[in-house]
Amino acid sequence: MTKLTVNTARPYDIMIDRGLLEKAGALSRGVNGGERALIVTDSNVAPFYASRVVASFDAAGYQADVFIFPAGEESKRLTTISEIYARLAKNRLTRGDLIVALGGGVTGDMTGFAAATWLRGIDFVQIPTTLLAQVDSSVGGKTGVDIPDGKNLVGAFWQPVLVLADTDTLDTLPREVLTDGMAEVIKTAAIKDLCLFEMLENRDMDGANREPIISRCIDIKRGVVERDERESGERKLLNFGHTLGHALEKHYRYTGLTHGFGVAVGMAAVTAASEKQGLTAVGTASRLAALLKKYQLPISDPAPQSEYLSAVLLDKKMAGSKIDIVLLREIGNAFVHPMEVTLLSSFLNSQSEAIT
Ligand SMILES: NC(=O)c1ccc[n+]([C@@H]2O[C@H](COP(=O)([O-])OP(=O)(O)OC[C@H]3O[C@@H](n4cnc5c(N)ncnc54)[C@H](O)[C@@H]3O)[C@@H](O)[C@H]2O)c1
Ligand SMILES: [Zn+2]
Repeated sequence: MTKLTVNTARPYDIMIDRGLLEKAGALSRGVNGGERALIVTDSNVAPFYASRVVASFDAAGYQADVFIFPAGEESKRLTTISEIYARLAKNRLTRGDLIVALGGGVTGDMTGFAAATWLRGIDFVQIPTTLLAQVDSSVGGKTGVDIPDGKNLVGAFWQPVLVLADTDTLDTLPREVLTDGMAEVIKTAAIKDLCLFEMLENRDMDGANREPIISRCIDIKRGVVERDERESGERKLLNFGHTLGHALEKHYRYTGLTHGFGVAVGMAAVTAASEKQGLTAVGTASRLAALLKKYQLPISDPAPQSEYLSAVLLDKKMAGSKIDIVLLREIGNAFVHPMEVTLLSSFLNSQSEAIT
């Protein structure tokens, strides 16, 4: 087992191990003295894991109930939050009680937001069950929902009291969802850790390798979040590949292409371009592309760049004329490169020649 402590304003532990679901109730007891717990999960995760988690909370002396919502990003909205509030009211959860997020990033973001706002904030425990949620969304305290005008536009910073990443839960993940999460793992290695990058090159994401790989990713994100809880500086590095990734996701209206696939294309494209312009060590782009390919992630997309970039340009022009692009100096070493938005497409233009 690996245990990491996040020293934000409200410090909390993250545990990474196999078989944590069965211990979730007892471990939560260590940080919360409430009587009631509401476990929020989705319709895909519930059949696999809800009863085990409820049993574990019952055994730890909680009156536990489960709220199940239909799986998918479409559920990450205020109507689901209202339904969660209604259940919290019905079950009379008070300030000292507990909300538990059992699922991927959608469950974690939404449950965290409900916890941040119910009675102006009560304890919540994250039990992330996707790779993305384990290495990324469950760490850092960003919670929220989507509204028709955009993703994650409504939310709050609210830290969990405990995060339990049970690596066994990844066994039931559809392959595409696991691959999607690998993009964030590779991103983390690329911006911060050459050793992790080499580990990913030399090993696979199977049973025994999961704990060290996931733990390292969490440790890196933990460090960044501790130093920059509210995203004013270093935390921006975590956006490597995301400007283009988001543009592509938007281009496909958040349906044709997953987040991780967009980020993979984004990382490959900016790195190829920055290497061409002498900002990145020679050989970095091809090494990154090879690792992305190894994990079945794309390094380019058939959509014309001018089309999908126009959406970002429009957004960013409203915010100001500069955009912060994250680039690699070399593998494991990233920096923020402010750029005029209007120069972004010319910066990226020569990318295809550099990707082999
Ligand atoms: N808060 C943050 O800092 C942060 C960071 C990155 C992403 N996010 C958010 O995370 C969300 C994406 O997260 P996600 O990819 O985990 O999506 P998700 O929660 O929708 O999970 C993906 C799919 O996997 C299923 N699933 C989850 N765990 C499973 C398991 N163990 N076995 C079988 N199926 C399982 C889900 O039901 C869903 O169908 C987005 O809404 C994004 O905005 C938040
Ligand atoms: Zn991401």
